[in-house]
Amino acid sequence: MSETVVVVGSGVMGRGIAYVSALGGYRVKLVDVQEAALDSARKEIQAIFQKGMARGKVTAEQAGQAEKNLFYTTNLEEAVRDAQLVIEAVPEKKEIKKSVFEVIDRNAPAECVLASNTSTMSPTELGSFTKRPEAVIAMHFFNPVHKMPLVEIIRGLETSDETARFVEQAAQKMGKETVIVNEFPGFVTSRISALVGNEAFYMLQEGVGTPEEIDKAIKLGLNFPMGPFELADLVGLDTRLNNLRYLHEKLGEKYRPAPLLEQYVAAGRLGRKTGRGVYDYTKKQDED
Ligand SMILES: NC(=O)c1ccc[n+]([C@@H]2O[C@H](COP(=O)([O-])OP(=O)(O)OC[C@H]3O[C@@H](n4cnc5c(N)ncnc54)[C@H](O)[C@@H]3O)[C@@H](O)[C@H]2O)c1
Repeated sequence: MSETVVVVGSGVMGRGIAYVSALGGYRVKLVDVQEAALDSARKEIQAIFQKGMARGKVTAEQAGQAEKNLFYTTNLEEAVRDAQLVIEAVPEKKEIKKSVFEVIDRNAPAECVLASNTSTMSPTELGSFTKRPEAVIAMHFFNPVHKMPLVEIIRGLETSDETARFVEQAAQKMGKETVIVNEFPGFVTSRISALVGNEAFYMLQEGVGTPEEIDKAIKLGLNFPMGPFELADLVGLDTRLNNLRYLHEKLGEKYRPAPLLEQYVAAGRLGRKTGRGVYDYTKKQDED
């Protein structure tokens, strides 16, 4: 029987991780506390399979097989009982991650590896919430998961070589390239991305340009594939703000979240997932 991967949190990232895991041949259980999130994840995963088939990237047989291997549940305790790998993708808040890791640790088999898709947090600290720190590691996927080629793997202080090798092979099975880096808040990618994204919000607040002008300048002048506001809306402004708060606490002033970003989040403008962030997607044609 195929190995079982449990993905915890079916939001922006969890659904993508479930998709690439199923396509990689795993039996996949996607877990969330909200039925509505699971329903929306199921629909989005089906849509990605449809688009993949239409573009010739996935065969009908691969899609059919992968969809049969995908299960959706709100019962975390039950879901992890036969797992070989759990990938946590719940919000970037320490108290939520702590309680999820504690439940997984109590219910998953002793040999199961526990990975987190955290953008910034320390895998050493996440490991300290469990009785198996040697089997805890960060496996940082990028958005949108089915398109982005990298998984950044971050070892904690106690992470074993075996765990690092295991998740490296799992990421490769999911069709991804890997880098293994040393633990430091924000790793490589989130540290740079959060800084650039935050600076763009300061510029907008200062009236340097419109979002369209700033995005265009960065794309065409610096050859970034997406503008900082397009990316922030894709990432989720709440997720970006949580990352910045954590990095501000750990790395100091240069990561202080821009007040305008705080204001957008307070207003519920969280990006594409709520229909409005910096841009308004209720009017904009979604070309993805
Ligand atoms: N959004 C990105 O671009 C991105 C990129 C890389 C990494 N990440 C990281 O991935 C993680 C998830 O981010 P996201 O953007 O997918 O968030 P999201 O808000 O889109 O989704 C989080 C999901 O977790 C669910 N959830 C909350 N508490 C839960 C619990 N106790 N048990 C099970 N499910 C629970 C929520 O209902 C929601 O569906 C964060 O750590 C984030 O930093 C995000």
